[in-house]
Amino acid sequence: MTTSAIERFSTGDITLGIVGLGYVGLPLCVDAAQAKGIKVLGLDLKQSVVDSVNAGHSHIQDVPSTEVARLRSEGRLEATSDMSRLAECDAVSICVPTPLSKTRDPDVSFILAATESVAAALQPGQLIVLESTSYPGTTREIMLPALERTGMRAGEDFFLCFSPERVDPGNPTWQTKNTPKVIGGVTPVCSEVGAAFYERFIDTMVPVSSAEAAELTKILENTFRAVNIGLVNETAIISDRLGVDVWEVIDAAATKPFGFMKFTPGPGLGGHCIPVDPHYLSWKMRTLNYKTRFVELASEINAEMPLFVVGKVRQALNRSRKAVNGSRVLLLGVAYKRDIDDMRESPALDILKLLEADGAEVSYHDPFVTAFKEDDRELESVPLTDEVLSEADAVVIVTDHTTVDYGRVLRLSKALVDARHAVKAAGIEGVPVGPDRWIVKG
Ligand SMILES: NC(=O)c1ccc[n+]([C@@H]2O[C@H](COP(=O)([O-])OP(=O)(O)OC[C@H]3O[C@@H](n4cnc5c(N)ncnc54)[C@H](O)[C@@H]3O)[C@@H](O)[C@H]2O)c1
Repeated sequence: MTTSAIERFSTGDITLGIVGLGYVGLPLCVDAAQAKGIKVLGLDLKQSVVDSVNAGHSHIQDVPSTEVARLRSEGRLEATSDMSRLAECDAVSICVPTPLSKTRDPDVSFILAATESVAAALQPGQLIVLESTSYPGTTREIMLPALERTGMRAGEDFFLCFSPERVDPGNPTWQTKNTPKVIGGVTPVCSEVGAAFYERFIDTMVPVSSAEAAELTKILENTFRAVNIGLVNETAIISDRLGVDVWEVIDAAATKPFGFMKFTPGPGLGGHCIPVDPHYLSWKMRTLNYKTRFVELASEINAEMPLFVVGKVRQALNRSRKAVNGSRVLLLGVAYKRDIDDMRESPALDILKLLEADGAEVSYHDPFVTAFKEDDRELESVPLTDEVLSEADAVVIVTDHTTVDYGRVLRLSKALVDARHAVKAAGIEGVPVGPDRWIVKG
C-alpha cells in the first residue's frame, strides 16, 4: 500500500480538494493547479467566494486574477460549495480559520465542521492534510477519531498529516511555493505519503516525526515573533522613559553580525496569526497544568502599545494646548501591516476606539482598505487631500504603506505621530533628531 500510494501521489493524476479559499487556501490552489497532473477543486461555504473563483477572479491580493482565470480556462481549477464533492478528491488540504473565542480560547469549530465534511466523504486511499494553525494534538485528538469513526484506519486505509502554512501576505520574495514546508503525519507512513505529494508543488518539504512536532513548529515560529516583538516594544517604552531613540539603538544592535535578529517596535500586533496562535499553545498547556509565561508577558506588552501610541497623540496635541476631546485625528493606515488589505486584529482598531473614547473625531485613510465595518457602523477611507491633512489636529501613521508620500504628510500636518518610523525610513529631510521619534511634528 505505502509504495503504491507514494507512487500514485508523487506521479499520478491527482485531484486535490482545498477546503477554505482564503489567504492560505487560494494561493495553495493556484500553486498546486500549476503542477503537472494536479487538478484542484476548491471548496468554500461562502457562495460569493466560489462564484468569484469560478468567474476567474481572485479576492486575495497576492493571487493575480489572470492566473485564476488561466487555470479556470485550462480546466485545472474549479470551486464549489458542495462538500459531498470531497469524495472526488485523492487528497484534501484543510485551510479554514482558527480564531480565538471572546474569552481568548481556541475556536476549533471551523476545523470540526471541515473534518465532519471530510469524514462524510472519506474514500479509501485519500490523503487528508490539516494546514490551519492549531495547538499540538489537534490532528490526532480531533481529526483522527472523527475520520476513523468511518471504520477506516489512518496509515492503512487513508493518510492524515499536519502541514502548517507559512504564507506571509504581501511578501514579494517568499510565497507558498518557495517557502520550505514542514509536514508530520499521525503515522510515519502518513508523513511519507504527505511529503511525496506536496513535493510536486512545493520546492522544499521538511518532514518531521509526528503531527504534534509539525503543530508545535508552527506555534514556535509565531511565538518567536510575538515574544521578540514584545521585547522590542518594551525596549521602546524603556527608551522613551530614558530619553533614548529606540530605533537608533536597534539599528546599532543590528550591526552585530551574529546573535542578534532585528525586530522593530510599532503600534501593536496584528494579523490572523501572531496575536492569536500563541494563545492556542497557552490553552493547551493550561490543560497540562503549565503556564506559558513568555506568551502571556509578550501578549501583555504588545496589547499595551495602542495605549502608548494614544499617549503620544495626547502629548502631541498638548504641545499646541489642545485636548484629545474634540480634536480631529486622522489615522494613516488601518491594515495590520504595510501594503496589504488585511485588517484582522489590527492595532488601528484599538487606537481608533481609545481616541474616540477620549472624545476625538477620528477618520482614516488607507489605500488598501477603502471601507470596513466596526461595531455595526461602516467607516470609509477619506481621500488624502491637502485639506484633509492640514485640517486634522493630529495625524497618526499606524501602518506604513509604501504608496503614501510621507514628505507631504510631514509638510501639511499640524501634528504628526509616527508609530512605524515611516517618515525617517523614507529618508525625509527635516525630521527632528531627538529621543521622541514617535512625535515627528507637534
Ligand atoms: N492569513 C495568513 O497569513 C496565514 C498564514 C499562515 C497560516 N494561517 C492559518 O491558516 C488558516 C486559514 O487562514 P486564512 O487567513 O486563509 O483564513 P480566511 O478567513 O482568509 O479563509 C478561510 C476560508 O475558509 C472558509 N471556510 C470556513 N469554514 C469552512 C468549512 N467548514 N468548509 C469550507 N470552507 C470553510 C471561509 O469561508 C473562508 O473563505 C488559519 O488557521 C490561519 O491561522 C494564516
